[in-house]
Amino acid sequence: MTDLKAQLSVPIRSLGPSHRERIGAHLRALDRADRYLRFGYSATDEHIARYVASLDFDRDEIFGIFNRKLEMLAMAHLARNDTPEYRNCAEFGVSVLKKARGRGYGSRLFDRAVMHARNESVDMMFIHALSENTVMLRIAANAGATIKRDGSESEAYLELSAPTLDTQVTEMVEEQYAQADYRIKVQVKHFLDFMATFQGVPRPPVADSQPGAAD
Ligand SMILES: CC(C)(COP(=O)(O)OP(=O)(O)OC[C@H]1O[C@@H](n2cnc3c(N)ncnc32)[C@H](O)[C@@H]1OP(=O)(O)O)[C@@H](O)C(=O)NCCC(=O)NCCS
Repeated sequence: MTDLKAQLSVPIRSLGPSHRERIGAHLRALDRADRYLRFGYSATDEHIARYVASLDFDRDEIFGIFNRKLEMLAMAHLARNDTPEYRNCAEFGVSVLKKARGRGYGSRLFDRAVMHARNESVDMMFIHALSENTVMLRIAANAGATIKRDGSESEAYLELSAPTLDTQVTEMVEEQYAQADYRIKVQVKHFLDFMATFQGVPRPPVADSQPGAAD
């Protein structure tokens, strides 16, 4: 059985068109080197704006991890191919803000994307990464992906097994939990913002980079 408790410790929610602004803010916060690692080129703010505007939330799946200030600490994009013969393939891309790295968010988003892809009957997931991107390649290798290095670029692919009742129920529970966690964060943020409008009402400190529901 999937370790649901461990997975719920970092709420990961599926994103929709209403999150475009936060996705843009997350990607613009990446520095030049990270943008290069994420997109394979030195993406400017204009490139990012075009990428965000072009996101297809019906075809693809986009996941996010938020802190209590509703700042998007990490996001992943599982892109499906429109070509009918490649409908069973998907490409994975991910980014984590520098201040939130090394906590397993990249790996957790990868696992979440794998589970979703399996449930959507995708049977091959691709990760395109620069060969220097040892952390991304490690995430893929840990999941059992085959990695082909070609000079400065690497292609990793992971064959996915068929969905099970476990993957389907786990994804449903995780998503509901993450949506509930997000709604609470929205309510808390609105309330604190409202309270802050009153002079003399001190705003309690909010840890700005922990995503857990109990934050
Ligand atoms: C790649 C990236 C998403 C990783 O995110 P992350 O949340 O820091 O990754 P994790 O914490 O899940 O760590 C993944 C693995 O790398 C290891 N790792 C993390 N940081 C490391 C570092 N600086 N050096 C060596 N290993 C490291 C972790 O120990 C873990 O391996 P393990 O599970 O075997 O212990 C993040 O660095 C990033 O956003 N980079 C810029 C964009 C990018 O490169 N995207 C990928 C291309 S699509």
